[in-house]
Amino acid sequence: MGSRDLPPSGHETDVSDGIFPEAFRTQLDQLMRMRRDVRRFRTDPVPEAVLARCLSAIQLAPSVGLSEPWRILRIDSDDARKAALKNFESANAEALAGYSGDKATRYAGLKLSGMRDAPVQLAIYCDDETSQGHGLGAATMPEMRRYSVVTAVTLFWLALRAEGLGLGWVSVLDPDQLNRDLSAPQGWQLIGYFCIGWPEQLFDSPELERLGWENRQADLPIETR
Ligand SMILES: Cc1cc2nc3c(=O)[nH]c(=O)nc-3n(C[C@H](O)[C@H](O)[C@H](O)COP(=O)(O)O)c2cc1C
Repeated sequence: MGSRDLPPSGHETDVSDGIFPEAFRTQLDQLMRMRRDVRRFRTDPVPEAVLARCLSAIQLAPSVGLSEPWRILRIDSDDARKAALKNFESANAEALAGYSGDKATRYAGLKLSGMRDAPVQLAIYCDDETSQGHGLGAATMPEMRRYSVVTAVTLFWLALRAEGLGLGWVSVLDPDQLNRDLSAPQGWQLIGYFCIGWPEQLFDSPELERLGWENRQADLPIETR
């Protein structure tokens, strides 16, 4: 999987005056607007070189104490994929049973994973017991390691999108069962199960909005103290 050619330690990369050109900023804004959670994938494969390039974005992520606690399991075998899909289907049925009336009908109409079709599937973990970073920041708030992994996922998500690839985050799962099925090492906390591939279609709005489940807030809630 990916590894990025990093400049030697202490070497400053030239970013001219430190401000990216306006055209780039416009495109970055478009990239963030067009990032979608994707559940409907074409089944054609993702070239390994493209996947490796996108994965290497993870190595650019911030992490508490520079702990780099991200750990990745690539789910390739039929058995592991079947176990993960079964896990999702049973968690999804349980979640559906928690709704009633119109919400239950709407929930049943949602597609909440692309696990049947996505050519690449990853379980991404946080190593809660890593010694890297010497506990800096994590002593007061251990959950910061997990947040570090989430920041890494976000960079990966954007890198994939820039290559035309989609990512779908699956969290409707029993994490303990998944850990057993995947033989995840002790001390690893599941951050998410990720489906990756070429999207069937591109959209500029969330699928949950289009299907009437929830709307994005118009304003950013900021309070002053
Ligand atoms: C932590 C996290 C967990 C998520 N879990 C799921 C999930 O289990 N199934 C799913 O279909 N989408 C999941 N999503 C995707 C959200 O539904 C999606 O991000 C949101 O509706 C906004 O849509 P957009 O990402 O296309 O902008 C998850 C997203 C995040 C950040």
